[in-house]
Amino acid sequence: MTTLAQYLQNASQSKGSGCISTQMVTLVLAIADVSQRISAAVHKGALGGVLGSADTENVQGETQKKLDVIANDMILEALAKTEVVAGMASEELDDCSPVAGHEDKPFLVLFDPLDGSSNIDVNVSIGTIVSVLPNPANGPVTNQAFLQAGTAQLAAAYVVYGPQTQLVLTFGHGVVAFTLDRDAGQYIQTSNGMEIPADTKEFAINMSNQRHWYPPVQRYISELLAGKTGSRGQDFNMRWSASMVADVHRVLTRGGIFMYPKDLRDPNKPGKLRLMYEANPMSFLVEQAGGASFDAAQRILDIQPTELHQRCAVMLGSKNEVNLVAGYHQ
Ligand code: AHG
Ligand code: MN
Ligand code: MN
Repeated sequence: MTTLAQYLQNASQSKGSGCISTQMVTLVLAIADVSQRISAAVHKGALGGVLGSADTENVQGETQKKLDVIANDMILEALAKTEVVAGMASEELDDCSPVAGHEDKPFLVLFDPLDGSSNIDVNVSIGTIVSVLPNPANGPVTNQAFLQAGTAQLAAAYVVYGPQTQLVLTFGHGVVAFTLDRDAGQYIQTSNGMEIPADTKEFAINMSNQRHWYPPVQRYISELLAGKTGSRGQDFNMRWSASMVADVHRVLTRGGIFMYPKDLRDPNKPGKLRLMYEANPMSFLVEQAGGASFDAAQRILDIQPTELHQRCAVMLGSKNEVNLVAGYHQ
């Protein structure tokens, strides 16, 4: 049995291109540690007083749940103590949060502290998503420093708080997964190389938005729904959990295509999901597992961000399906 700490230690001592720095080891261990504490809070639910609304609004105009705020504060505090993080940006913060006196430290960390907030109170899987960028270290940490394309990510991870708590991680050399052993208080490696099959019969999209979709998405989904009798000649199954972490975890585990397209509702809002906290880290993980990830027009990891909280369309997962629907957009 390999613990997360042992895995990281081995990676830091490896001679190949997959070698990680000891500072990265420190960072990932801190992320794992705080995720265990978030997991414990999630697990307590009503008994821990963590359910319900915080009655505050974040910068995107969404009402925050208590757990959004609790997880956000826990991560900010934990990573500020690591001595390796220069600044952080979060879905729940208006602007980035520089770590005082640490502007020369190697990492910038972006996170969605609690993904799937609408599922918290109904006891359905939720998660935390993290993206790690290099710190350009050219003076005080500002929002501008975080505006790097997804290809610049040094690491990406998510933790899914489901029937099991699992941490899924990439440094750009494949994807590994760890399962939390609550009794031992440790993450144990349970997958050595997650791979997304190129073909799938499963899709994930919020069908209630159908009337708002653009023609390429209408076409693609109607072909899937037509099943055996349609042009695809086979049936497709649908799953939608309303937690990106849970849906992407399913895609990484057994394949599938996940879509949150941009639609006609609000031209100023290109999709719902956020590039820096959701789309980029998940796209990095998906590509590292052999899948593909596009917005409507291009590879998500190639998007040059212009704003910290910008949104984008997301189509990711099994390569052949993602390429097909991407082709419909050309
Ligand atoms: P968050 O809880 O961090 O705001 O993210 C919710 C996101 C994502 O997890 C999920 O895929 C999507 O919103 C669900 O949206 P709908 O409620 O429109 O289905
Ligand atoms: Mn989210
Ligand atoms: Mn969130």
